[in-house]
Formats: sequence, structure tokens, C-alpha cells
Amino acid sequence: MRRRARRVRFPWALVIIVSIISGTALFFVVSWLRPVTEAINEQYFWVDARYEGVKSKVTSASSRHITMMVEYPEMDNKTITASVRSYLDERKTQFLRDVEGARMIVPRPMSKLNATYQLTNKGTDTISILIQSRSEVGGSSPRTDVRAWTFDLKTGKEITLRDLYGQKSTDGIARTKLYLKQKLMARLEVTNEYDDRLVNKVFDSPSFGSFVITNPHTIQFSFGQGVIASEAAGAIDVSLPIDNLQLFLQTDQARKLLDIVSIDQIPEYQPLKNGEVDCSKLKCIALTFDDGPSNYTSQILDALQRYHAHASFFVIGQNIDKHRDVLKRASDAGNTIGNHSWGHPSLSYLTPARINDELIKTNNSIKQVTGKDTPYMRPPNGAINHTVYTMLAERKMTAIMWSVDTRDWADRNTDIVYNRVIAGAKPGAIIVLHDIHQTSVAAVPRILETLTKQGYVFVSIEQLFGPSGSPGKSIYSAN
Ligand code: NI
Repeated sequence: MRRRARRVRFPWALVIIVSIISGTALFFVVSWLRPVTEAINEQYFWVDARYEGVKSKVTSASSRHITMMVEYPEMDNKTITASVRSYLDERKTQFLRDVEGARMIVPRPMSKLNATYQLTNKGTDTISILIQSRSEVGGSSPRTDVRAWTFDLKTGKEITLRDLYGQKSTDGIARTKLYLKQKLMARLEVTNEYDDRLVNKVFDSPSFGSFVITNPHTIQFSFGQGVIASEAAGAIDVSLPIDNLQLFLQTDQARKLLDIVSIDQIPEYQPLKNGEVDCSKLKCIALTFDDGPSNYTSQILDALQRYHAHASFFVIGQNIDKHRDVLKRASDAGNTIGNHSWGHPSLSYLTPARINDELIKTNNSIKQVTGKDTPYMRPPNGAINHTVYTMLAERKMTAIMWSVDTRDWADRNTDIVYNRVIAGAKPGAIIVLHDIHQTSVAAVPRILETLTKQGYVFVSIEQLFGPSGSPGKSIYSAN
């Protein structure tokens, strides 16, 4: 009996001790393996994109070492919305993964992700979306990733070069590659950033053929940093005028997107590389401010002065009289003063006589204050047609369009405006802002600070394109 009692004493104490030890060990192992994700405070809010039928969902997240701001376009077509969202989510995930990798090596510097989209074209049947995301991981130099699509708004399917060229796609694509290569070589050979191996890799890839339409006469190809040229060249946009491709562009799809018939009406832009700053060697960028001068303009001038930066102001003639001093100061400081019409009508709806009136009155008023003639103008609402070009040619004036639309007048939010500029920044970019909105003006010092750190030089339109521009033509960017 006694033996029986002593027989099986289960070692409860041992089990408890072992469990505690292994539990603790497991806890440490799991915490060590678990991605070192800090508590990230993510929020989102909706803003009204200025594009009809499109809303922006802006998510912003921050922790002690991360700031992220990503803007998602949401539209009626769920397929398109989902394609873009999945790309942006992928960027976010990649960024967080990169941050974790980097934190093993460097002691926790700030990492940033800014991603935004531009609708470079929105028609009734099609939409072109360009995503630019700029990331800075663990103190390394910032990099820009780019994705471009043109979608069919009904089916939600991507339209590729093959769809544009149809039966002629073999010849059309071959010709496209030839022109792309020529343009890339011309731009990158000087700086030794051309890389034939990368170019061929892109051309051979099955995904080659994505593009955006920026205007009815141009197909734009966009490549992220290091994709088609060396990392040092940054992200690259190559715009091909369709003049030399019309032969191949005989499909209905091409006619929906591009102005195939009236191709000769709008002259091709020839870049000018004069002016005092050598933008073939420096990372030049042009900030442009429309609709002023206003009570806020002097704040921008203060900020520009602090950063030794130049910009351009496209002023509305009827605003000049109230703000003569600030306009004079802007001009004397070496900024370009451009014409934004007298009363801000869409010039393409006006008679030649009235267009002339809008241009001349404003030019005269500018000259009266600054003492200088201006060859540059920005058409109100971007509205331009053959008549306007003719009038501009007669006045020896050049239309300055833009490559980055901050849509700051739709979203009166400093963070969003800042985010769009930083994400869209690239050498040669022309960025449009409005100096009549306090929210945009407040973004300017932050923009100047961040881009200065990234090595950008802020130039005026005159510094980019010289004292006389390209009369009768329009310019979208400096590359
Ligand atoms: Ni305007």
C-alpha cells in the first residue's frame, strides 16, 4: 500500500517550470522574429479630386520613425480603382519592408513615403493615371517609383500600345522604341547615365507598352528610378509627339485618345537650354504660381528669398493694380512674371479680338509695374486651341503648361499640396500652385526645404527657357 502511494507522483512542479521557461523563450523568439513594426497611427480622409467622378482617399500614417502619405484615386469603375489600389498597397508594403531592413543597420533615422497620383488625361471613354511615389528609407537618398496606365473607362482594362496600333502594332511598337531610345540617348548621354542594357531589358519585358496621354498630341512613357537608366538619372518621363507615329495610329482606339487628324495644327515643342542656369547639369525645377498677385504673394517671396530660390508668377491682369509693390518685388528678385489673362476667362471660347485684349491689357499692366515685357503666358484653366496659339505666335508669346498639377485649389490642405509636389518632383518639372490660397502658400517653405535637401535648384521659367521662349508653342516641362 505504501509503495503504491509513493509510485506515480506526476512531476507537476517540473512541468510548470519548463512551461514558464519555454513560454518565456518562445515569447522572446516570437518578438524577435516578428517584424519590428512600431505602433503606426494611420488615418484616412476623403478629398474631392478636381476630376469629375473621381475622389481621393488620402491615408496618412506616422510613427516615431515613419511618415507616410498615400493618395488613392477612387472612381466609379471598380476594376480601375482596384488595380491602382493594389499597386499603391504594394508600394506601402514594400516601403515598410524596406524600413525594417534598414533599421537593422542604421539606428532609426526618419523614413518617408509620399505617393500621389495625377490624372494626366480624362476623357469620356478613357483615363490616364500616373502614380509617383517618393520614398526615403533610413536616411538613404530618396528614390522615385513610377507607374503609368491608360484605362478604358467602360471595361476597366488597360489600353496598351498594341491596342493603339492595332494591326500595325509590330511596326508601330518598333518605331516607338526607336524614338524612345533616341530621346533617352540625347538626354542622358552627356551625363553618362544612358544604359543600353537597361533600355533593352525594358523593351523586351512583356509589360512594355504602358503609357499615359498628357495631351492629344503626345504619348508619355514614365519609368521609375533605375528602371531605364542609371539610378542617378532619377525617374524619367519621355514624351513622344505623335507626328512621326501617325501612320501607325489608325485605330479607333487611337482616335479616341489622340488628335490624329489635326496633328499638324499644334507645333512641336523644341526645348531651349539657354538661360543662366545649366539645367543639363543641375536638377532644375520650376514652381509656378497662378491667379495672383494676392495678399499672400509676399510670404512666398520671403520664403523664396530664404532659400535663394526663383519661381514664376502667372498673374491675372485685373489683380495687378492692388498689388503693384509685391509684383515689382517679385520681378526685381529675378522671378518670371507671366500673363494669366486679364479676367481669367477660358481663352479658347473667345474671339481673336477678345483674346488679344486679354493678352495685351495684361502685358501692358505688367510692363508698367516691372518695366519688362513678358513672353510667357499660362492659359486660364489650361484652355488652349488653334486660335489661341495663333494669337500667341503674333504676340511672340509662349504658353507655359505644367507637368505636375497640385490641384491645390480643389484641396485646400497644406499636407496634400506638399505631398503632391514632393511625390511629383523631378528634374525639369513645371509645378502649378496658386498663390491665392493660404493653404498652398503655407506649403511653400516645406516644399523648398525638402527639395533643396534633395538637391533641386528652383528656377524661373525664364531661367529654363530663355528670354524669348518658343513663340506660338506650348511647353509642359523642361525635358
Ligand atoms: Ni488660373
